[in-house]
Amino acid sequence: MAGPTLPLTIEGDGGPASEAVRRDRANLRERLYRHGALLLRGFDVGGVDGFEAVVRELSGAPLTYTEQSSPRSVIKGKVYTSTEYPAKAEIPLHNEMSYQASWPLVLYFHCVEPPLTQGATPLASTRAVYDLVDPAVREEFVRRKWMAVRNYRDDIGLRWWQAFNTESREEVERLCEAGGIEAQWIGKSGLRTRAVREPVHRHPVTGDTVWFNHVVIFHVSSLPAPTRNGLLEICGEEGLPNNTYYGDGEPIPDEVTDHLRDCYRQASVRFDYRRDDLLVVDNMLASHGREPFTGPRKIAVAMGEASDA
Ligand SMILES: [Fe+2]
Repeated sequence: MAGPTLPLTIEGDGGPASEAVRRDRANLRERLYRHGALLLRGFDVGGVDGFEAVVRELSGAPLTYTEQSSPRSVIKGKVYTSTEYPAKAEIPLHNEMSYQASWPLVLYFHCVEPPLTQGATPLASTRAVYDLVDPAVREEFVRRKWMAVRNYRDDIGLRWWQAFNTESREEVERLCEAGGIEAQWIGKSGLRTRAVREPVHRHPVTGDTVWFNHVVIFHVSSLPAPTRNGLLEICGEEGLPNNTYYGDGEPIPDEVTDHLRDCYRQASVRFDYRRDDLLVVDNMLASHGREPFTGPRKIAVAMGEASDA
């Protein structure tokens, strides 16, 4: 399955990254569409301000992280830490915010401090994953779509006002309606949301058909067994922080998510981060994840170009 190299490495000469990107913008965009991700290595990024300047050169103003699914902190402005999950945990391959009506088209990762071992951002071509998925499984998802069910609770995971960046219930309801999400208040402080989404999309520029969804990463089977059992005991299945179903609300069998996981695994590639690496990912052409790691690991993240799906 020989597709274009992912990511395409572009070696710098130690000069400022934002200037190099400005000079070569059109060419870089074209290569990003061809390869799905670029690794800019050997440039002087210039800290958080230089990182943001690179985002502005390639994508314009960076986006705000909304309706989040994982804990992050602001480093500065719209530059965030990568997901602050325990170092031992693996984050399965996914496409950022594919559970929303609109998502960032380009993702930026800046390696401020490389990990000691592992800690890569593995990538998988969504064109390749689409091709690997059993046509019968694909057709079933296209016909039934998929549903993300999320619970914002007062004991586990994110609170609704953190996820939606507002303490107003009316505002949450307005945001949900605008985003095609069904909102249901649970008890005093809980919120359950349901959104039915398409599993397969067409890339707005390249026209490629891509496997673009959160079916696997949000599915209960992706949780490590002790976490899964603990959560099921506390929350029950319908109260889990995240879970996925077919669009009609019926469960997705584990054998289906196992198969999808296997497709991601087959398409997955990795590289070891070096200090000041800049990874630019087309969010619809490549899915990304995170390996477990040891040692320090500081990856700054920014997002650009909202889709208008
Ligand atoms: Fe992510």
